[in-house]
Amino acid sequence: MTVIDSQALLVAGSLLAYAGSALAATAQQYSPPAYPYNSESANYTGQSNNSLQNTPIVSGKAFDRFIQIWFENTDFETAASSQTFQNLAEQGVLFTSYYAMTHPSEPNYIAVASGDFFGNAADDFRAIPMNISTIVDLLEQKNISWASYQESMPYDGYTGYNYTSFDYIAGSGDYTYYVRKHNPLMIFDSVSNVTERALRIRNFNDFARDLNASAMPQWSFITPNLVNDGHDTNIDFVSQWIQFWLNPLLADTRFNDNRTLILLTFDETETYNINNRIWTLALGGGLPTELKNTTDDTFYTHYSCLSTVQSNWGLGSLGRGDTNATLNNVFEFVASVTGWKNNGISGNSSDIPFLNLTGTIPGPLNPEYYVPFSAPNMNATGVGGGPVFQGPGLNTALSAASQPPPVNLTAQGLDTPWAQNPGYDYPNGTQVYTSTPSATTSASAGSWTRGEMSVIVPALTLLGLVIGSLLVL
Ligand SMILES: *[C@@H]1O[C@H](CO)[C@@H](O)[C@H](O)[C@H]1NC(C)=O
Ligand SMILES: *[C@@H]1O[C@H](CO)[C@@H](O)[C@H](O)[C@H]1NC(C)=O
Ligand SMILES: *[C@@H]1O[C@H](CO)[C@@H](O)[C@H](O)[C@H]1NC(C)=O
Ligand SMILES: *[C@@H]1O[C@H](CO)[C@@H](O)[C@H](O)[C@H]1NC(C)=O
Ligand SMILES: *[C@@H]1O[C@H](CO)[C@@H](O)[C@H](O)[C@H]1NC(C)=O
Ligand SMILES: *[C@@H]1O[C@H](CO)[C@@H](O)[C@H](O)[C@H]1NC(C)=O
Ligand SMILES: *[C@@H]1O[C@H](CO)[C@@H](O)[C@H](O)[C@H]1NC(C)=O
Ligand SMILES: *[C@@H]1O[C@H](CO)[C@@H](O)[C@H](O)[C@H]1NC(C)=O
Ligand SMILES: *[C@@H]1O[C@H](CO)[C@@H](O)[C@H](O)[C@H]1NC(C)=O
Ligand SMILES: *[C@@H]1O[C@H](CO)[C@@H](O)[C@H](O)[C@H]1NC(C)=O
Ligand SMILES: *[C@@H]1O[C@H](CO)[C@@H](O)[C@H](O)[C@H]1NC(C)=O
Ligand SMILES: *[C@@H]1O[C@H](CO)[C@@H](O)[C@H](O)[C@H]1NC(C)=O
Repeated sequence: MTVIDSQALLVAGSLLAYAGSALAATAQQYSPPAYPYNSESANYTGQSNNSLQNTPIVSGKAFDRFIQIWFENTDFETAASSQTFQNLAEQGVLFTSYYAMTHPSEPNYIAVASGDFFGNAADDFRAIPMNISTIVDLLEQKNISWASYQESMPYDGYTGYNYTSFDYIAGSGDYTYYVRKHNPLMIFDSVSNVTERALRIRNFNDFARDLNASAMPQWSFITPNLVNDGHDTNIDFVSQWIQFWLNPLLADTRFNDNRTLILLTFDETETYNINNRIWTLALGGGLPTELKNTTDDTFYTHYSCLSTVQSNWGLGSLGRGDTNATLNNVFEFVASVTGWKNNGISGNSSDIPFLNLTGTIPGPLNPEYYVPFSAPNMNATGVGGGPVFQGPGLNTALSAASQPPPVNLTAQGLDTPWAQNPGYDYPNGTQVYTSTPSATTSASAGSWTRGEMSVIVPALTLLGLVIGSLLVL
């Protein structure tokens, strides 16, 4: 009996392995979720909630609109080998010394929103407390409109850990296209626990709506889904997505006008044991014409995206990596307009720190080297000239210098307290508590199953798309 059982298990196991590789092979075929690029689609999952209401344009010194688009896990040379990326580079400034902060994905997204990744070395569920501030606090101080567009997110303000929807590539079954770990602002309670802010985290049907209504905000962060950003696929797949979706947008003045700066980058390199240099391109009509088809070897990091925005609009700062003089170089063509002086580090200078370290950096999001959240450096001088933002409930006496030594919570059978799901969500535009706050990690947060998907079917019917009926199967 025992022998037969283990043979049966072996057979089942190899069948599963076969099914797994067959699935992976199918997933490599690019297929547009919507056609054309600016249309709404049931394949984007949730319906649009009208177009974004924005405050009047606030002029920046070098640009009036900043759009960041992040791809996943690719070494510099791999991106550079793609003909599509090469063609794009002819339209922009290629940054040849731009670095991610650490590994894996999630800490890099946290970093670009707040100027720190708080020691995080995981892709697990994270919720960062209200007193920790982000770029949103700085933008709102100056009434600069912002939004984030998350492809395949079911509805505005969705707080769940991931989301599984109709597999529009295979044409049947379902697929996990959306993950919270790639949605930087959602991870901060200071954004996601404030209804008006949470609802500015929108999906791609909203994007189509906002584009067609000429309602793009002045600052936006765009995350393609797990196949289109290269996470589950490769650079050829991303290249096809660029040809289908981004290239027409570059020619659409509702997206890219003569005051627009677009930044294409990757969250991190795929290879961990090299330093974290990633292929990054600045493009858009706001770029001085003479800079197109050039390279810039200034040392930049994800924190440069914070400091460049601060410099452009004369904002305050977050007093974290955005004010770290080693890591916060402002994009040169912006610095030359605002008068900011960069630190002179460039190329493959030995002054470039190792930004591929992971796991061993103490912080409140690292259970093996846990230290509490500390206040930002309130004395820091920001690139934009404004003061360091002080979030509600921030205890400024808890400076980085006053931190206790790191503690190994894992050894005590504990996780970081910031792995708890606060339990709120916005299924109909109003904050509701869908679960009680829970202390479990990644598996805790709402990954919806097909049974729960009936909630979104009315939305699909509203769109009048036949495909909606497939979803309830
Ligand atoms: C959604 O994807 C399917 C392929 O699975 C395609 O046939 C359909 O046209 C797509 N819907 C839209 C609106 O593009
Ligand atoms: C930028 O575009 C606006 C209209 O969108 C136009 O009025 C203006 O002349 C353009 N400026 C330049 C420098 O092309
Ligand atoms: C980081 O990159 C450097 C330079 O390539 C390499 O020597 C080092 O081993 C890497 N560190 C890790 C932790 O992989
Ligand atoms: C970009 O520059 C290269 C040479 O560096 C040149 O061969 C190419 O034609 C240029 N492309 C455009 C669009 O100007
Ligand atoms: C600034 O960043 C560098 C490089 O990562 C680091 O060594 C230094 O400690 C940081 N400075 C502060 C004040 O955090
Ligand atoms: C900021 O300045 C105050 C007053 O000079 C000082 O007490 C404090 O230690 C400084 N904090 C930091 C982080 O340097
Ligand atoms: C931030 O808020 C959290 C949760 O209330 C608290 O544990 C932490 O001490 C606070 N940190 C600072 C620097 O204010
Ligand atoms: C923390 O504790 C865990 C469990 O005992 C152990 O596996 C891990 O190596 C420890 N980490 C450190 C940094 O000591
Ligand atoms: C969310 O905000 C409410 C007040 O609006 C507060 O009572 C609650 O503690 C907050 N939750 C978290 C996790 O910050
Ligand atoms: C949203 O759902 C909550 C809880 O189900 C309900 O109390 C509220 O009235 C709903 N709001 C709208 C606008 O439908
Ligand atoms: C739609 O947006 C409006 C305005 O921001 C908001 O009041 C409403 O709650 C949103 N509804 C949904 C379903 O997200
Ligand atoms: C989605 O979440 C579920 C449950 O939390 C987890 O088991 C699954 O691995 C997650 N999938 C992805 C792709 O993140």
